[in-house]
Amino acid sequence: MTEILMNVRDLVVDYGGGADRLRAVDTVSFSLYRGETFAVIGESGSGKTSLAHALAGIVEPAAGSIDRVPGADDRAAGTSHVIFQDPRSALDPRLAVWQCVAEPMAPRRLRIPRSTRPAAVGLLRRVGLGDELADRKPAQLSGGQRQRVTIARAVASRAELILCDEPVASLDVSLQSEVLALLAELRDEHGLTYVFISHDLGSVARIADRVGVMYMGRLVELGPTASVLESPRHPYTQALLAAVPKPTRVRRERRGLLLRGEIPDRRNPPSGCRFRTRCHLATDRCATTAPVLTDDTESHSAACHFRQEAIEAWQSALGPAADRKEESR
Ligand SMILES: Nc1ncnc2c1ncn2[C@@H]1O[C@H](COP(=O)(O)OP(=O)(O)OP(=O)(O)O)[C@@H](O)[C@H]1O
Ligand code: SF4
Ligand SMILES: [Mg+2]
Repeated sequence: MTEILMNVRDLVVDYGGGADRLRAVDTVSFSLYRGETFAVIGESGSGKTSLAHALAGIVEPAAGSIDRVPGADDRAAGTSHVIFQDPRSALDPRLAVWQCVAEPMAPRRLRIPRSTRPAAVGLLRRVGLGDELADRKPAQLSGGQRQRVTIARAVASRAELILCDEPVASLDVSLQSEVLALLAELRDEHGLTYVFISHDLGSVARIADRVGVMYMGRLVELGPTASVLESPRHPYTQALLAAVPKPTRVRRERRGLLLRGEIPDRRNPPSGCRFRTRCHLATDRCATTAPVLTDDTESHSAACHFRQEAIEAWQSALGPAADRKEESR
């Protein structure tokens, strides 16, 4: 995965203006590679959806740039498609299920020609839905079936970038697993690139190649999934991971890494490092100087002045190797 699909530089998304201005995405930079699944994690309100909406062109950035690198195939250049958490909002309740899938294929999307029905029914089959559902209305499907329709619709759009915003959050655990497997298969079959937003680190571990961690609008850690989830370098990522319930005892030291306090007022963020009001490693330097995302090894970077101390704190919270084995059992 070396071919770049998109370069995002110093992206800013604001809502409102003047004293009420809320900076939802704050100077975020990264590159997206063709064919990868790039997960975005972070607490509620950290700016994940705002980032995805800027990438999809749904919101206009206040500053920065999003540059698409054209591909070699005949895909509609520069197109993207969003799969939302709640599939009801994405499907027109007046249309039959097959028409919901065929709609993005129709020229100018004014009339949906009957000739597109076989292709739509074929896609419905591909996502595991029988022909008998094709003439129903979306309201006559279960939540899991509706989400499969939105996935078929995303493939029908022929967009090369699919922004999946909590795509399995509304489904029960066994359906989540099936839909994740389907998303991965379709990605590989159609050469899709995903931005995958999720609160569920288990889903992220299963589907994502890389992970970006957001805190108060900023990207604070970025790296390969296994590296970020197993050896996090930012105290915020470490706190998110320490909060995941473990079947075995939680080590006392790991509790020391857990998030403390509330997210500060978004309209009046802390100076320097945004995380400093909740960070167990914070010093005066953190209040005066904002850390930048720094690449240490294997393209794994973190925005923290004290990355080495953070790594040591994480290793000590994990305990000796023998304990680690016991915990993972
Ligand atoms: N249309 C809007 N107008 C004003 N503020 C908004 C709007 N959309 C989002 N916000 C604010 O921007 C910030 C980031 O919101 P965003 O929806 O991007 O977060 P998120 O990380 O997707 O959260 P969640 O996990 O809850 O979906 C929040 O403080 C939110 O209240
Ligand atoms: S820069 Fe300072 S406050 Fe921010 S995460 Fe690192 S140690 Fe904590
Ligand atoms: Mg969101």
